[in-house]
Amino acid sequence: MSRDHLGSVAKQNEVLYNSYSAEDNINASPHLKHQQIKDLYLTLVNNVFDKAKVNTEQPEILDLGSGDGSVTLPFLALGAKVTAVDISSEQLKNLTKNCKEYENMFSSHCTDVVDYLQNSNEKFDVIVINSFLHHIPDYMSLIQQCLPHLNPHGQFFSFQDPLRYDTLSSFNRRYSRYSYLSWRVFQGDFWGGYSRMMRRRRGVLLDDCVEDNAEYHVTRNGVDQDAIARLLKSNHFNVRTVKYFATQSALFQFLGYKARCANMFSIVAQKTD
Ligand SMILES: C[S@@+](CC[C@H](N)C(=O)[O-])C[C@H]1O[C@@H](n2cnc3c(N)ncnc32)[C@H](O)[C@@H]1O
Repeated sequence: MSRDHLGSVAKQNEVLYNSYSAEDNINASPHLKHQQIKDLYLTLVNNVFDKAKVNTEQPEILDLGSGDGSVTLPFLALGAKVTAVDISSEQLKNLTKNCKEYENMFSSHCTDVVDYLQNSNEKFDVIVINSFLHHIPDYMSLIQQCLPHLNPHGQFFSFQDPLRYDTLSSFNRRYSRYSYLSWRVFQGDFWGGYSRMMRRRRGVLLDDCVEDNAEYHVTRNGVDQDAIARLLKSNHFNVRTVKYFATQSALFQFLGYKARCANMFSIVAQKTD
């Protein structure tokens, strides 16, 4: 992938997220909306934090693609130090407001995560990436670039990325699609959304279309959970993949959870040396 392409996708994310209010974020994000998913995230945060505490008094966390702080806050509340990185100045403005109570434990950088990782020498006990890998065209290379920034026994923790679509059962795939459509139909710009969906079904994705590029892998084939697990294992990590269900509609979320559907994943991985 060319640097120009990666830069253009990052820019399109910046434009989109600078235009998003806190309400927009919640409306579009099942993990910020539904208690079941928030509970799962908080359970994993507590596990990760407890493991980090074994090796250090005050764990240091790097939150990549931090948004307005919903991911950062639970770590701060537990007593961690957090460095947040996001390309959107508007998201970081809200994050700074939301984390005001913890201002001595928290710093932020408004930049592309790739530039941050390439230009920083800092090391962390945990790198958390929530609802973010699917925004990055070359997420495997991003993960590879994260690894030198982890301390011994450091942890890589990702949450809320779509399972690679061609690994889903036909039921899970259809249920996820209809759940999304049942919500999308009430969100405005119906015909624009419909024509984009039909175009993508023909395999046509446009380099200059924000909707095709901001949610990069959501409009393609999801994120390859198995390739990420393999990469981390080959770098001496213990890896746990947690699969769960997430959709925007409250009714479909409830039913999908009860039926034990799965369309999303989290990876919790710890370095063994
Ligand atoms: C779906 S939001 C997730 C926010 C937060 N982690 C959460 O789970 O609520 C994705 C975030 O990634 C940021 N982002 C997208 N591409 C980026 C890039 N290349 N570098 C830094 N931040 C980026 C966006 O600005 C946005 O705030």
